[in-house]
Amino acid sequence: MGVRVWTRRVAHEAVAAAAITAAPPDHTTVTPMVVGPAAVPAPPSPAAVVAAPIDTAAQWEALIQTVATCTACPLHKTRTQGVFGVGDRAARWFIVGEAPGEEEDLQGEPFVGRAGQLLDKMIKALGLRREEVYIGNILKSRPPGNRTPAPMEVAACLPYLKQQIELVRPSIILAAGSVAAQNLLASTASIGSLRGRVHRYGPSRIPLVATYHPSYLLRSPSEKRKAWDDLRLAWRIFHRAPPDGKDL
Ligand code: URA
Repeated sequence: MGVRVWTRRVAHEAVAAAAITAAPPDHTTVTPMVVGPAAVPAPPSPAAVVAAPIDTAAQWEALIQTVATCTACPLHKTRTQGVFGVGDRAARWFIVGEAPGEEEDLQGEPFVGRAGQLLDKMIKALGLRREEVYIGNILKSRPPGNRTPAPMEVAACLPYLKQQIELVRPSIILAAGSVAAQNLLASTASIGSLRGRVHRYGPSRIPLVATYHPSYLLRSPSEKRKAWDDLRLAWRIFHRAPPDGKDL
């Protein structure tokens, strides 16, 4: 990312890697469907037990189809395609951006342009690979000229992102930029005041850390130091490490 604020010590890299590999997400556990004895006398068969993940897969597929054919806002007329989201559907980290740009609109994947390259470095700094996280945007369609999303566009599209978060059930959310942070937190506060502390998202009170958007950091490299501090904060929350800064 071009900022040398801190260097991860080898020992802590190992701890982080171990935590990531040794502590599988709770939500990967398959919860069998509970069927009341009055309704079905026999205990659930093995086939019924494996039905739960198939349901989840069906929910993903239904959501993908809905987004691909969505006409709820005018952006469907100008977009090349809807940009659904990408990554591990059982990820522990969910990263939220603003909206697809030109490259994303063409390729159908979030954060593949210049901002995406910087985001990849941020993900790497967290000790992760892009495939290990889930990446989504507030909007699934590119606003013409990359303008800021209009409120009605956000209102139409945000429920899709919320459903994605419900399906992934991440351990932590990283909101990149003011549009992501403000809309997930239903706040009008500036990104400068939302970053640097831990918020909670939704009924499950998922920890949410806000930081600057990679596009902003490309324009204002002097702010990278603060973004790096935000990543350190998120890393500590995720690993439940003490806040004295000795963990990285
Ligand atoms: N900026 C975003 O917020 N999202 C993308 O997918 C690309 C650039």
